Amino acid sequence: MKHVIIKGIGSHVPDCVLSNADLEGMVDTTNEWIITRTGIESRRICLDTEMTSDLCHEAALKALENANISVCDVDLIIVATVTPDMQFPSTACIVQRKLGCVDIPCFDISVACSGFVYAIDVARNFLLNNLVMKNILVIGADKFSSIVDWEDRSTCVLFGDGAGAVVLSRDNTNDDSEPGILDVLIGADGRRTQMLYCLGWGTMAPTESEKVGKRERFVKMEGREVFKEAIKRMCAVMEDILLRNKLTIEDIDCVIPHQANMRIISAIAERIGVPEEKMFINLQHMGNTSAASIPIAIDEAVQVGRIQSGDLILVVSFGAGITWGASLIRWK
Ligand SMILES: CC(C)(COP(=O)(O)OP(=O)(O)OC[C@H]1O[C@@H](n2cnc3c(N)ncnc32)[C@H](O)[C@@H]1OP(=O)(O)O)[C@@H](O)C(=O)NCCC(=O)NCCS
Repeated sequence: MKHVIIKGIGSHVPDCVLSNADLEGMVDTTNEWIITRTGIESRRICLDTEMTSDLCHEAALKALENANISVCDVDLIIVATVTPDMQFPSTACIVQRKLGCVDIPCFDISVACSGFVYAIDVARNFLLNNLVMKNILVIGADKFSSIVDWEDRSTCVLFGDGAGAVVLSRDNTNDDSEPGILDVLIGADGRRTQMLYCLGWGTMAPTESEKVGKRERFVKMEGREVFKEAIKRMCAVMEDILLRNKLTIEDIDCVIPHQANMRIISAIAERIGVPEEKMFINLQHMGNTSAASIPIAIDEAVQVGRIQSGDLILVVSFGAGITWGASLIRWK
């Protein structure tokens, strides 16, 4: 089978830093509680005038530059987000307009924090089965600050805003030692939707919004259940993808987990036996950026030299739905 490679990567976060000290002035919390329970020290938050599509646009420009291709060479745009600029049209269409590459197809996918892993699987299948397409822009982006309840201390301390983008391209090699996306494994359990959800402007949302109050529309989470399920599902999908590729964790150079909580990541590392130096963590200064978390982390890991050319990386995600996914990527 032909390969799909990550030809370029880029990420963007807003300038505004929201520290734990800032949160102490907003809700009944402490820097110590947030660090001990989550590992998060600060996160980036959009201004009211910064939209998800703006984050996508900036990340996409960097990914295109890194891939050394023109926007005219992009054949499809997929945006993974649960915080679109508007209910419709898709944020991908708005990003297309901002990039100036008209006529190519564009769509969003809604898979919460697993969105990026799902999107690279969708894009990979397009490239392998539609030989007309050569380059696909995949963006994971979320502006969670627009949907969290800033009066709910159990959720508002966890999230940040950002975007990460990759250019995926078809490559003619069929050798697993060459750079490329070697495998993707995705799954979901729709019986667990109540664990983490946001009614937003969905059809289940109360219609008399003024009566029930706007807060009904914000993110709701059963923190302890999400915590347990995240560890269980991420461990299982890592084991499955390693097994079906006849690999062990020793073969992996860098693990990029969804950046939700330091304690979740530590528990996974312990259960799977991932040495500390192989686990890349940047949630201290990013918080949980949802669909952007994995591409931002890969980009940062490359920039600081934690991912080198030829490295085998394992990414693993977990999110609302509940959803999960993992991918094995040989870095370019
Ligand atoms: C949210 C989370 C950090 C809470 O940690 P926890 O150890 O489970 O804490 P609990 O929810 O049991 O709450 C313990 C106490 O801390 C309090 N608390 C919650 N948030 C707090 C905050 N920001 N500051 C201070 N106290 C807080 C609770 O009210 C509770 O108080 P009580 O014992 O008086 O009732 C943890 O459950 C978690 O990380 N879950 C996963 C969340 C996640 O990653 N979601 C995204 C998945 S993609």
